[in-house]
Amino acid sequence: MAKTYNWGIIGLGHIAHKFAQDLLITKNARLHAVASRSLEKATAFAELYHVPHYFGSYEEMVKCPDIDVIYIATPHTFHCEHTLLCLKHQIPVLCEKPFAMNAREVESMIALAKAQDTFLMEALWTRFLPTIRKTLELIDNGTIGKVLTLKADFGYKAIFDPKNRIFNHQLGGGSLLDVGIYPIFLSLLLFGKPTSIKAVTSIGQTNVDETCGILLQYPGHKMAILHSSIIADTGTEAIICGERGNIKINTRWHEPTSLTLNLKNKEPQDFFFNYRGNGYEYEIQELMKCLDRGMLESLKMSHDFSLDLIELLDAIRIEAGIYYPKFDYFVRSPKLEDVIKFSNN
Ligand SMILES: NC(=O)c1ccc[n+]([C@@H]2O[C@H](COP(=O)([O-])OP(=O)(O)OC[C@H]3O[C@@H](n4cnc5c(N)ncnc54)[C@H](OP(=O)(O)O)[C@@H]3O)[C@@H](O)[C@H]2O)c1
Repeated sequence: MAKTYNWGIIGLGHIAHKFAQDLLITKNARLHAVASRSLEKATAFAELYHVPHYFGSYEEMVKCPDIDVIYIATPHTFHCEHTLLCLKHQIPVLCEKPFAMNAREVESMIALAKAQDTFLMEALWTRFLPTIRKTLELIDNGTIGKVLTLKADFGYKAIFDPKNRIFNHQLGGGSLLDVGIYPIFLSLLLFGKPTSIKAVTSIGQTNVDETCGILLQYPGHKMAILHSSIIADTGTEAIICGERGNIKINTRWHEPTSLTLNLKNKEPQDFFFNYRGNGYEYEIQELMKCLDRGMLESLKMSHDFSLDLIELLDAIRIEAGIYYPKFDYFVRSPKLEDVIKFSNN
């Protein structure tokens, strides 16, 4: 890598700590600045991770010289606003998942990134993990034959707190956007866009979807059976079934350290992948590699892929009845065809 990149972080909550820990162990990365809505919080965070610059407002940090890239770790409902803030200052952005609340927001982020000639990527870190690379390699080599079915879930029992972003409707709470995005991401990676969508949900007392069940259908008899939850531990495994066998990405599959290959009449074969830290090093390295090469997007997590992903999430929300009125451009005409361009191959 040609240089060491100075990172900034916006929003110093749960994930910002884990990300900061991984920045510290990633070669050619330096945590240069952090921003919180509270100067006290920013100061404490900076002390903990030895960060030279810290700010009590996000707007102040984007004016800080020498920042090469900003990681956005605020709740979903602010992803678009904070991404636009950075892009206006031509600062490359790594923004947490979901990229934004809907496809219109994502379109505006991508448009500004292009207009400003500035790098932008969604922080869907699972995409960059060695386990996913190995899974794709096994599939591409034809090891399990034609892939026909994906079964994947992500469910955990969150501590109930109506103020926490997980249960807070105003902050885009609910299972689909928080964790359901992972199985949906995997379905998009393996199969592309579906030809039909079925989805059901159960809405809890704070008006967020506490569980969501999703069935996606594709040409060639392919199907994805997906599930998310914030009220139950669901196992969090992904099984990719082909004509000759299956690949099980073991729990918790979105941050996997092993997978099992099951072929007919053969002993199961395990593959193990140990990584340092929390696993964010891979997306950090991918982003810096792209900047080194002067790229404006990652080929692994491209703008088009992120747009397809959010369109799919919008369409699933319509089908299941998961609404955030302030963000639902489609609410007056909830026609799936207006929201998602279905696959026709
Ligand atoms: N990639 C992953 O593995 C992963 C894991 C967890 C979460 N995430 C994503 O990361 C994002 C943040 O999740 P988190 O779990 O870190 O959330 P969190 O603990 O609630 O932290 C979010 C931070 O955003 C800032 N913020 C700005 N406006 C806010 C508002 N009105 N209400 C609350 N906080 C506000 C706060 O930082 P300041 O007070 O410092 O301004 C807060 O600490 C989410 O979009 C989530 O999907 C990703």
